[in-house]
Amino acid sequence: MKIFNAMMASAALAVTGFAGVQAGAEEFRLGLITPPPHVWTLAAEGFGEALSEASGGAHTVTVFPARQLGNEAEMLQQLQTGALDMAFMTIAEVSNRAPEFGAFYAPYLANDIEHAAAILRSDAARALLEQLPATVGVVGVGYGSAGMRQILTNGGAESAADLSGQKIRITPFEPILDFYNAFGVAPTPMPLPAVFDALANGQVDGIDMDAELIVVLNYHEHADTMIQTNHMMFPMVGLVSGRVWAGLSAEDQAMIEELMAAAVDSTLDTYVEREQGWLDEIRATGISYQEAGPEFFGDAIDAWEAIWTERAGDALPALRAAAAELE
Ligand code: BEZ
Repeated sequence: MKIFNAMMASAALAVTGFAGVQAGAEEFRLGLITPPPHVWTLAAEGFGEALSEASGGAHTVTVFPARQLGNEAEMLQQLQTGALDMAFMTIAEVSNRAPEFGAFYAPYLANDIEHAAAILRSDAARALLEQLPATVGVVGVGYGSAGMRQILTNGGAESAADLSGQKIRITPFEPILDFYNAFGVAPTPMPLPAVFDALANGQVDGIDMDAELIVVLNYHEHADTMIQTNHMMFPMVGLVSGRVWAGLSAEDQAMIEELMAAAVDSTLDTYVEREQGWLDEIRATGISYQEAGPEFFGDAIDAWEAIWTERAGDALPALRAAAAELE
């Protein structure tokens, strides 16, 4: 992380000449829902260190992980009023307010984690950020991600139809709700901090989750089957309050944009490097391990497309075109 910070700080100095900025010193607050050891939290801390270094100590960032400032809906509201300065947030929450972002959750838009990273770095993805100040009241500086989505459950399945009737935890947002409804499970929307207890006490039969958190939070201890489906990517976005942004000098805006974009982008590389290791760790636990592709979900993918082609507008064909080019 130190090397990453030094690289980001020296890039900022080289490109924009920010050395010695002292006027308008700010103590920024950045919120996220992920726990302290999570890749996103470490990247947020790295961003804070890089900003402090590049501003000659004028600016500091205090990172509040693990939902200390509220859930993502609450943090987005705080960003809108200016009560919170910055956040690293799932696109899920943004897509609840700007449906075009639902296009990122098209099942099998990305073939794998490398492809997901390339799509998130595409011009089509970047173009979607432009509407955020007007539609949501925040500035989106760039994308990161968590790993591909998998299903951890109890009882094997030849196809998604075999999961019918199971209660599967999903992240609370519409694109994933529509997908799970399309193959007949009982999707149970639940924020991340509630997942461990719900799985451990049998409130849900399984969870939609990524490999990192299955390993780091030991979810596999309360399930007997991992179905590696890679069915969706899980983008994150670096956000600055529109109100706070408007009060910053052009120089500070450029410095924050560059350093925060580099920090969220670094998570894309982290998942490309580490995703397979986490999957291997899950396999090594000895739970039943299946691999499945789009055919596992039958016509649920078409059912999702039918709903979201309308809701996501031009964003879906634009991201599909980028995905095809980047294959
Ligand atoms: C989830 O809700 O599953 C989730 C949220 C943030 C990061 C990773 C996963």
